[in-house]
Amino acid sequence: MSAPTIKLNNGEEIPVIGLGTWQSSPEQVVAAVAYAVKEAGYRHIDCAWGYNNEKEVGEGIKQSGVSRKDIFLTSKLWGTRHSEVEKALDEPWPILELITWTVRNHPAFPTLPNGLRDVDHSWKLSDTWSQMEAMVKKGKVKSIGISNFSVKKMEEILPTATIIPAVNQLELHPYNPQHELLAYLRSKGIVAQAYSPLGSTNSPLLKDEVVLNIAQKHSLQPSDVLLEWLVAHDVVALPKSVTPSRIASNLAGTLTAVGKLDKEDIAELDGLAASGKQKRFIMPPWPVDLGFDNWTAPMPQPSTK
Ligand SMILES: NC(=O)c1ccc[n+]([C@@H]2O[C@H](COP(=O)([O-])OP(=O)(O)OC[C@H]3O[C@@H](n4cnc5c(N)ncnc54)[C@H](OP(=O)(O)O)[C@@H]3O)[C@@H](O)[C@H]2O)c1
Repeated sequence: MSAPTIKLNNGEEIPVIGLGTWQSSPEQVVAAVAYAVKEAGYRHIDCAWGYNNEKEVGEGIKQSGVSRKDIFLTSKLWGTRHSEVEKALDEPWPILELITWTVRNHPAFPTLPNGLRDVDHSWKLSDTWSQMEAMVKKGKVKSIGISNFSVKKMEEILPTATIIPAVNQLELHPYNPQHELLAYLRSKGIVAQAYSPLGSTNSPLLKDEVVLNIAQKHSLQPSDVLLEWLVAHDVVALPKSVTPSRIASNLAGTLTAVGKLDKEDIAELDGLAASGKQKRFIMPPWPVDLGFDNWTAPMPQPSTK
């Protein structure tokens, strides 16, 4: 069983379901990846240097017996490495490399004495993007993309871009649907990827009564409904799990659910956030305006270093 694919703007095909690996410990991720690829049919893994488990993801792929070239691997340029894109790319082995956040920061998970992150406010995102483009031209990576880019932040790179980002990876689920941002991405030929598609750890989405009712109506699991809602919107979903039964069902259940949600179900899920349930689960305390609606950032603070 393998996932259908979506064509990116450079002709590459990306499977619509990928395995997330954030918060999977190095020990867990070896088995999770080996199982996902060998037993469950995944051909797409979402990684990041900052998850501290990329080596073990590689080990999991090795143990699966499936060739690395048959797997769509994504890694992410960490906020500390905006000025050294080539060096950062020499370490992992991605097919797709994304800029993780729109912020250049100092140490890996930096905090100032006031608890906010230590950000380089003068860094130009277009300088990071031109280094990313150079990597494609050099043949070091097939596709490049972005993550956590609002329209405001995309407009900081698009006017001078010679390569349009292939994807924008965002927090997307019915509590944070970002409808206008998705419409903007469609207009630019950029595929949206959903992170935290189930609502991340201890998700209330899996217990939402609208989601439960739709699941019951079609004899599906709540997770199938959430993932199919994304796929129905041509969004690539990246559910994370280290539990074999969930790894399997997140792919197989979505494939079973494809086409089952009717127009009313989709409309109901589309409207959940506007009905008063809008919620983001992943909000690092960046002391800058990232340009998203529904995200009140902590006010910029001068460095006290
Ligand atoms: N670009 C970014 O800034 C960014 C930010 C956050 C995440 N991401 C990527 O997106 C991926 C997914 O996001 P996420 O990890 O935040 O959250 P998620 O995939 O929405 O949810 C993961 C949680 O749901 C549980 N789970 C998985 N499948 C389930 C199922 N079928 N039924 C019930 N529970 C289930 C998992 O538990 P078990 O593992 O215990 O099974 C885990 O606790 C990440 O792993 C990462 O690759 C990217």
